[in-house]
Amino acid sequence: MNLFVDEIVGRIVKASGLGDEQVRSSLSVPPREDMGDYALVCFALAKQLRANPAKIASDLAAKVEAGDGIEKVEAVGPYLNFILERGPFISHTLRKVLEHGEAFGSSGQGKGKTLVIDFSSPNLAKQFSIAHLRSTAIGHAIYKVHAFLGWNCVGINHLGDWGGNFGQLLAAYRRWADPVEVRANPLPQFLALYTRFNEELEKRPELQEEARQCVRELEAGNAEVQALWRFFVEESLGEAERIYEILGVRFDATRGESFFADRIDDVIGQFEAAGLAAESEGALIVDLQEWDMPPCILRTSRGTSTYHSRDLAALFYRQERYSFDKMVYVTDVRQNLHFRQLFKAVELLGKDWIGRCEHAPFGMMSFKGEKMSTRKGNMVFLEDVLNEAVELVGRTIEEKNPGLSARERVAQQVGVGALVFADLDSRRTRDVVFDWKDVLNFDGETGPYLQYTHARFCSILRKFGRDPDPAADLGVLGEEAEMRVARKLAQFPDCLDLACEGNEPSLLSTYLLELATIANKFYNDLPVLSGEDSALVEARVLLVGCVSQVLRTGLSLLGMQAPVEM
Ligand code: ARG
Repeated sequence: MNLFVDEIVGRIVKASGLGDEQVRSSLSVPPREDMGDYALVCFALAKQLRANPAKIASDLAAKVEAGDGIEKVEAVGPYLNFILERGPFISHTLRKVLEHGEAFGSSGQGKGKTLVIDFSSPNLAKQFSIAHLRSTAIGHAIYKVHAFLGWNCVGINHLGDWGGNFGQLLAAYRRWADPVEVRANPLPQFLALYTRFNEELEKRPELQEEARQCVRELEAGNAEVQALWRFFVEESLGEAERIYEILGVRFDATRGESFFADRIDDVIGQFEAAGLAAESEGALIVDLQEWDMPPCILRTSRGTSTYHSRDLAALFYRQERYSFDKMVYVTDVRQNLHFRQLFKAVELLGKDWIGRCEHAPFGMMSFKGEKMSTRKGNMVFLEDVLNEAVELVGRTIEEKNPGLSARERVAQQVGVGALVFADLDSRRTRDVVFDWKDVLNFDGETGPYLQYTHARFCSILRKFGRDPDPAADLGVLGEEAEMRVARKLAQFPDCLDLACEGNEPSLLSTYLLELATIANKFYNDLPVLSGEDSALVEARVLLVGCVSQVLRTGLSLLGMQAPVEM
């Protein structure tokens, strides 16, 4: 909750005799402006006050005092609406934004707490696809929002560098590869081999046995297979790192699944000691039938490790090493079952810290109507898409602002930002259809629109020609268009707390789009620099500064750049 709330809560507490907490939890920002600035929703109070919600609202309306910044208190049905005086609210809000500067928006709620977040985590030996961008962009934004709110964050790239996929690639390499060709052009060759293996597998299922054999040899430490594996891993990591560089993403730890291979016996030992490991068709499993789930497999009948067992080892390792307060996995929804099984298995072991682990799944991205899957070979490469976005943005800039000096750098920042934003602007769990037109539009609900609005507000400040006086009188502001901006700015801290709690960057993206639209309307409706009253100009310029600052903070939390000119 934000500004003026303490005052409102205090008055309701005084008039009703209810507790502070209870009042606070029933107070909200109404969905429409004509419903007031804040509203007490009286439903939840009915029981305790032994009256129906509408009666509670109208009784309170008669008792709660207006005045001192609160213009009117009125009951509408079950709601007690508060209408604030514009002047004091606007100046109080802008003052807060100016006072806190770049820290404005942070409640500091994460102080002393540790977040471990597992994101991006691509399967290596495949090219980075546009689908991988989702986990990277979403995870990075979740990381940054937590860090901003004071959390100590550990970002982990849990590389898929072990197991079945590698078995297939190794087997394909043995069968078909021309080592010289592969060395000359590793990643496309890996993909071609992997794709071919999967195509042939459909006709000849017995090929799978070869892949399994490779995994066995890899896990047993066969030198030739390990050397080949290392080559695959190093080549693909190079590509991944190039992309992280473009995106401006860094990890605090990059550990492949391979890192955990020799910790799995210990995991299995714990399940055995607890009487939870059972033999089933030669494999070792944790039975989850009672919870309507297939078993969590600890070891395959061929004696090899599994995605589950490696994840268990990684999780125990993280808990010991970081003793986290929250641990988040960011993957697509197809892994929902995997994580439910994982969490249940750990819960059965009696580790109560499993309650701190969350899976933050996201929906699938399709491109021109097709789901992207490496196995079918019809994937869209992220690096190509990034390059294309930068090029298209470069052309738009050339049209709109041919004189821009840093055109290439800005095109890079906006092109990349457009793609990142496209991953963050709808609810995480929704499927996304990728469409160039939607993503790069400077006027739509897009990253470029936000960046453009930020640059526009920066240019107003530049045109003003000097730093606005922070002590200027803000009391001269009071137009509805200014009030709208102030209301929105005041919601920023709550928005971030909610985005953090729900691991939901789209709350922030939506917020920024709304702020940009409201701020643009303010600028279109009211004169800023051309105003006649110099006190008003000074105050409006401060408001412009607040907007550009919050846009900049928000963009940075989404992992996007905020060029000052574009
Ligand atoms: N490598 C997996 C994939 O690309 C994602 C790994 C997510 N993290 C984890 N600890 N399981 O599907």
